[in-house]
Amino acid sequence: MADAWDRFEQAAKVAGARRIVSLFEAEPDRLQRLTVEVAGLTLDLSKQPWDRGAFEAAIDLARTAGVEAARERLFTGEAVNVTEDRAVLHPALRAPDGAKFTARGEPVSAAVEEGRARMRAFAEEIRVGDIRTVLHIGIGGSDLGPRLVWEALKPLSPKIDLRFVANVDGAEFAQATADLDPATTLVVAVSKTFTTQETMANARAAREWLGGKGQFAAVSANVAEAVKFGVPEDRVFAFWDWVGGRYSVWSAVGLSCAIALGWEAFEGFLQGAADLDAHFTSAPLEANAPVLLALAHVLNRNGLGRPIRAVVPYAQRLRLLPAFLQQLEMESNGKRVTADGRPVARPTAASVFGDAGTNGQHAFFQLLHQGTEVIPVDFIAVAHADEGPAGMHEMLLANVIAQAEALMVGQPDAREPHRVFEGDRPSSMILLDRLTPEALGALVALYEHKTFVEGVLWEINSFDQFGVELGKKLATGILKELQGGEAQAHDPSTAALIARLKR
Ligand code: F6P
Repeated sequence: MADAWDRFEQAAKVAGARRIVSLFEAEPDRLQRLTVEVAGLTLDLSKQPWDRGAFEAAIDLARTAGVEAARERLFTGEAVNVTEDRAVLHPALRAPDGAKFTARGEPVSAAVEEGRARMRAFAEEIRVGDIRTVLHIGIGGSDLGPRLVWEALKPLSPKIDLRFVANVDGAEFAQATADLDPATTLVVAVSKTFTTQETMANARAAREWLGGKGQFAAVSANVAEAVKFGVPEDRVFAFWDWVGGRYSVWSAVGLSCAIALGWEAFEGFLQGAADLDAHFTSAPLEANAPVLLALAHVLNRNGLGRPIRAVVPYAQRLRLLPAFLQQLEMESNGKRVTADGRPVARPTAASVFGDAGTNGQHAFFQLLHQGTEVIPVDFIAVAHADEGPAGMHEMLLANVIAQAEALMVGQPDAREPHRVFEGDRPSSMILLDRLTPEALGALVALYEHKTFVEGVLWEINSFDQFGVELGKKLATGILKELQGGEAQAHDPSTAALIARLKR
């Protein structure tokens, strides 16, 4: 493994010294070799800084790191989340009926199908009733996926509207409910643990706000806690400990979307991800979209020392993708020890930021083109769209294509220094044929699997998140102090801030 990393890092340096644009002439098969078509997506990685040598070293690294065996362990339900001794089986949630997944040897597919049938029946019941708005309460993985899906797919005049409340800042709750009628609102409280401070506070607020009108449902892996909260058992939709929060949108966590979008759309979303799963488990490493996307990112992160990546969807409907990927990638792979507890040998997850194009062009693109750091970009674009005024979609597409070209080709020969664009700045292009539920499902699954592959290369457990615990624990104690409890020992800055807030 160490040798494969050495070869990869060496090859990356050699490739990094060549201009990306020069590689097209040197490698006649470049475009075809670095473009993958899968499940309604076209992934073009030809503007990434790998020459043939670096590409081959990258594939060799993936093979040596055991990506294929790790993938097998994931899909066969071994306890790949070793620190929590859990299987990780989000693919089981989107597999068509009749699949035979097991989690640590226990069959799970029948329970998945049963859960899906309950979700569907409930979604259909709500859609023909009096409910006009679903108020989805949850945070992190219990929020970001459904929010992304709704923004991406919501109709222009939805039959049922969907609102989200995540933050424990009451301003979000107040804004989401200001114009709602409790009598026509369904509250769906979503929490894997059903103990998360923010979600429980908002769920209590929502229960009070409903005042016995409207309806209340819950989604949780802790059914007992949801029932204890007061939700009737037939209104609690379960999922399982082998579904990670940030991988959970395919489970009952997606219930609000299934209601507001209709079952057909939700099923299409699952189907797109299942198609991507089929590709991930069967395509050779050299032509495997999540593997190649992971390797391109690792090439920049480790081979060329680039700690930041931008994600820029040229689709207003996908503007929440950067926020979704922040949790997916940074919570999964922001780790400093390996799965067996050793310090990692090299840097792990890059920081991810981004916004919708073209808006980003008028904000942070200056730095992408002329800043002192090279920040690789993932562009996401949609080939065909018919929303809005005629002609605008071509403008949007022209901009995304132009930005990727400008970053790579640049304008190195300009006479005035401030007009010089060095170029040679890498990007990936993910083109969706259309923004359908299926394509969205495939896109999200693409990023899930690429995050997993990176975790395998870095030898980390991508499926725990102990880094969020300490702050949560301290907040519990500080809350008591703010509410008049006894002062605790703190560093001087923290103590002064608490004292200031209590004044
Ligand atoms: O931020 C930590 C975290 O545990 C996430 O991983 C999770 O998605 C989120 O909190 C919400 O947790 P829950 O669904 O249990 O409320």
